Amino acid sequence: IVIVLDFGGQYNQLIARRVRECNVYCEVLPYNTSLEKIKEINPKGIIFTGGPASVYAEDSPTCDKEIFELGIPILGICYGCQLMTYLLGGKVSKAPVREYGKTEVTVNKNSKLFGDVTEKSICWMSHTDLVEVLPEGFTISAHSDSCPVAGLEKPSQSLYGVQFHPEVVHTQEGTKMLYNFLFKVCNCTGEWKMDSFTEQSIKALKEKIGDKKVLCALSGGVDSSVAAVMISKAVGKQLTCIFVDHGLLRKNEGDEVEKIFTTQFDVNFVRVNAQQRFYDKLAGVSEPEAKRKIIGEEFIRVFEEEAKKIGTVDFLVQGTIYPDVIESGLGKSAVIKSHHNVGGLPDYVDFKEIIEPLRLLFKDEVRKAGLELGIPEKLVFRQPFPGPGLAIRIIGEVTEEKIKILQEADAIYREEIANAGLDRSIGQYFAALTNMRSVGVMGDERTYDYAVALRAVTTTDFMTAEAAELPWEVLGKVSSRIVNEVKHINRVLYDCTGKPPATIEFE
Ligand code: XMP
Repeated sequence: IVIVLDFGGQYNQLIARRVRECNVYCEVLPYNTSLEKIKEINPKGIIFTGGPASVYAEDSPTCDKEIFELGIPILGICYGCQLMTYLLGGKVSKAPVREYGKTEVTVNKNSKLFGDVTEKSICWMSHTDLVEVLPEGFTISAHSDSCPVAGLEKPSQSLYGVQFHPEVVHTQEGTKMLYNFLFKVCNCTGEWKMDSFTEQSIKALKEKIGDKKVLCALSGGVDSSVAAVMISKAVGKQLTCIFVDHGLLRKNEGDEVEKIFTTQFDVNFVRVNAQQRFYDKLAGVSEPEAKRKIIGEEFIRVFEEEAKKIGTVDFLVQGTIYPDVIESGLGKSAVIKSHHNVGGLPDYVDFKEIIEPLRLLFKDEVRKAGLELGIPEKLVFRQPFPGPGLAIRIIGEVTEEKIKILQEADAIYREEIANAGLDRSIGQYFAALTNMRSVGVMGDERTYDYAVALRAVTTTDFMTAEAAELPWEVLGKVSSRIVNEVKHINRVLYDCTGKPPATIEFE
């Protein structure tokens, strides 16, 4: 294991992912993790992340100087590099100019980090402070025009630092550098693979659960599905999955989820057809947040009623994944999507403990695990779908008729995107039903029908997004199929807005 000590940098998760991509297992821990804990873990290496602070500022995050005496290799990145310098008696000062962006860095090829890196390599810089005086025993291993110490090292103690960010893609040979640190300095073996992870997890779950009962709220999304299947492989029908069909799913989705879980996996699958209850509650409601609230509350109510029938269970499954753990574990505030999770935890489902089988995995690792477990690709690579479902893609009041119209239009859109081979490259794409009706002509008849809007965005984190530039032929085909095949739609619009200022969903 390698530890990534988090000093608040925006790329901390990225560092962990890059390390894992080298098949080395790592965990992100807060900067103030005690030395005892680190000794106990006894990692093969430690990476200090960047961070927004300045080492001289009051209250800037720091760590115990003794960490450098443990004999564990350390790589400091950006702030981490400055901190290492500062704690070991070097000097950090404000740079005359803030350096930001792609920068040509000259590396010393004799360094273990840079042996196979091009001598002049493009690296990503983002810093206002820089190392001015090296700590004793250190040498310079890289420099750029405006940064005399872009890299420093003391190989005898396996201490390395870089001012730039090897973890971001703009550092063209960054992965090589991290790889070199992990394999040439830390002597990692690179055995962390998904198949061994799933195998071990299943074994551990089996031991933990024993002959007890487990309950899971299955949404049919990637995380809850992978979590459920992992547990089912461990304890079979001791797991009950409750799948609440709120009638706001995409076309045929409820049936598809049911089919997969009842025919391919050994679980106790309960589908609750609660469509009408949701439609009744939503009648006459058009305000987006009100719709979300109603759906969230009703979801919990339905789930609880079903759970009660089962009685006390020992464990409740949560599909928490590693980015959630990092965010909440470090007490950061920016959980922008908190309102997004339908319902949260049912207050009074009777359970003793929560299990989170995915809490150590990043999203792409969850997908890999899913494939490993034999979950169909269609489900594993599913795009995100909001908990309140089509209700927030139908502007204004939700009616059964509108749901039907939208389901049909959306299904055509998705089918054509898949036919064009675009389904894996677009972050999210869907149809939304506007509340606008307009005049059209069909045959010789005047029509007065709905306009459907198509949305497709590319994004890395769903916090910001760009409208995808779909090929015109694809849009043309989708549009003509929708107006021909879906009754009550006579106009198709394409949403060209990015986020911000728009959001991805319409409501
Ligand atoms: P927005 O619309 O905020 O969406 O740009 C960002 C991402 O979050 C999803 N989303 C939701 N997911 N419940 C959810 O479970 C919600 O209420 C909700 N609203 C938005 C959206 O699909 C996108 O992936």
